[in-house]
Amino acid sequence: MGKSAIVIGATSGIGRELAKLLVSEGYKVAITGRREDKLQEILKENPKKYIIQKHDVTKLEHSEKVFNKIIEELGVVDLIIYSSGIAEPNYNLEWEKSLPTLEVNVIAAAKIYDISYNLFHKQGFGHLVGISSVAGIRGNRHTPAYFASKAFQNNYLESLWMKAKRSKADIHITDIAPGFIDTKMALGDTFGMATVEKATRQIYSAIKRKKKKAYITKRWSFIAFIMRILPASLIMRF
Ligand SMILES: NC(=O)c1ccc[n+]([C@@H]2O[C@H](COP(=O)([O-])OP(=O)(O)OC[C@H]3O[C@@H](n4cnc5c(N)ncnc54)[C@H](OP(=O)(O)O)[C@@H]3O)[C@@H](O)[C@H]2O)c1
Repeated sequence: MGKSAIVIGATSGIGRELAKLLVSEGYKVAITGRREDKLQEILKENPKKYIIQKHDVTKLEHSEKVFNKIIEELGVVDLIIYSSGIAEPNYNLEWEKSLPTLEVNVIAAAKIYDISYNLFHKQGFGHLVGISSVAGIRGNRHTPAYFASKAFQNNYLESLWMKAKRSKADIHITDIAPGFIDTKMALGDTFGMATVEKATRQIYSAIKRKKKKAYITKRWSFIAFIMRILPASLIMRF
C-alpha cells in the first residue's frame, strides 16, 4: 500500500510545494488551508492523489473533526507536516498584529502537534514534521511575536522528539528551520533567498533521513551557528 500524508497549510508556498513533491513520490496527500479556491486548484492537478479539507487552524474546536474526516479516507497516516504560519512586522507593537501570529504559530501549532503525536501513538508509528524557522534562534525588534513563536515551535518539537525517543511506538519528529525561501511570506528579494523548489527538495531529503533538525537551505546551519554566538547588540542591527 502507498504511503499517506497530511500537509496542514498547503494552499501556498512551502506546504503546497511539499504536497506536490510527496504526490510525485507516490504519497496520497490530504491538504488543508483556509482558501478553498486554492485547495480546489491543487485537487484538479491530480484528483486521485489529493484529499482536500478546508480548515482554519485557529478554530481549535474543529481540528479533531478535520483530522477524523481525513483519517476516514486515508486509513493510516505516515507523515504529518505543519506548515501553516503567519509573519507580520509589528513596528508599533500593535496587539491586533501580534495575535494572529500567536494564534497560528503557537496555539494552533501546539494543537496540531498534539493531535498528530497522539494519533501516531495510537497507530504505533508516524512522522511529524514542523516547519519552524531560523527566526527561532534569536529575538528581533521588528517582529517579536514571529521570532518568539518560532522559538516556541523549536522547543515544542524538541520536547516531542524526546517523548518519542522514550516511546515504544515508532514515532519520528523533525524540526525544519528554513532561512529565506522565495514565497509570499518572504516579502521580496532578500539575502540568500532559495527557490521554494530547492528548499522543498532539501526538506524532503531531511524527512526521508528522519533528521531531528534540518536548516534549509544547508548553508543556514552555518549562519544559525553564527546567529547563536553573536551578542544581541550586533544581532539588533539587522
Ligand atoms: N518563506 C520563508 O522565507 C520562510 C522562512 C522560515 C520559515 N518559514 C515558515 O514556513 C511555513 C510556510 O510558510 P510559506 O513561506 O510557505 O508562506 P505562505 O506561502 O504564506 O504559506 C503559509 C500557509 O499557512 C497557511 N495559513 C495561514 N493562516 C492559517 C490559518 N489560520 N489556518 C490554516 N492555515 C493557515 C496558509 O493557508 P491559507 O491562507 O489558505 O489558510 C498558507 O498555506 C511557515 O510556518 C513559515 O513561518 C518560511
